[in-house]
Amino acid sequence: WFTTVRDSRGMPWRKPSNLSQDPQQRSQRAYEVWVSEIMLQQTQVATVIPYYNRWMEAFPTLKDLAQANVDQVNALWKGLGYYSRARRLLEGAKKTVEDYGGSLPNNAKEMQKIPGIGRYSAGAICSIAYGERVPVLDGNVHRLLSRLLALHAPPKAKATLDLLWEAADVLVQEDTENHHPGDINQGLIELGSTICTVRNPSCDTCPLQPWCAAYELVGSKINESLPDI
Ligand code: ADE
Repeated sequence: WFTTVRDSRGMPWRKPSNLSQDPQQRSQRAYEVWVSEIMLQQTQVATVIPYYNRWMEAFPTLKDLAQANVDQVNALWKGLGYYSRARRLLEGAKKTVEDYGGSLPNNAKEMQKIPGIGRYSAGAICSIAYGERVPVLDGNVHRLLSRLLALHAPPKAKATLDLLWEAADVLVQEDTENHHPGDINQGLIELGSTICTVRNPSCDTCPLQPWCAAYELVGSKINESLPDI
């Protein structure tokens, strides 16, 4: 499964993960992943694709974006909703030019100093664009790991989130089959959004079924029996 995400399947932000050492190219790749991850936060892949392409045509580099104004970015965002995402991208780009000379930081810890980039975005960007072994935990991965561990716990409690971030970290540190950390993280996100869905998860086609504690407990009746995960 984790190698299937290497195939871009029409997603223009997915590129072969042969990592460049050139700081300029690395930062450019991080910018592309940043834009895609912000757009994907509340929006489906198929909807995002044309918006992403138009955005990249208008602002091919982070420096181009930093010179834009709110009206321009809002116009390109029209129809995607949650406009604060566009404004935060613009603010983040301006700050990157001010504080980092226009190149995004080269690790997740530093990247979280940029406004609008939290632990999830930094993890996604740095694992995919730089190959850094840092975890991601979005709503999809949260649900997937909660089920995998049959975790009965308040989903938003700090202790729960700490435990799930730790579990996501353990998975991305696993390197037994030479998996690229960006592939592992994107594989988890995609499994959560396409197979381990909120309602009627497709347990029969899930590659993690043999290790899934919730499946072992209740079979594919997961959504009925464990409504809070
Ligand atoms: N949703 C959020 N990030 C994603 C990614 N990198 N690939 C597919 N869907 C996603």
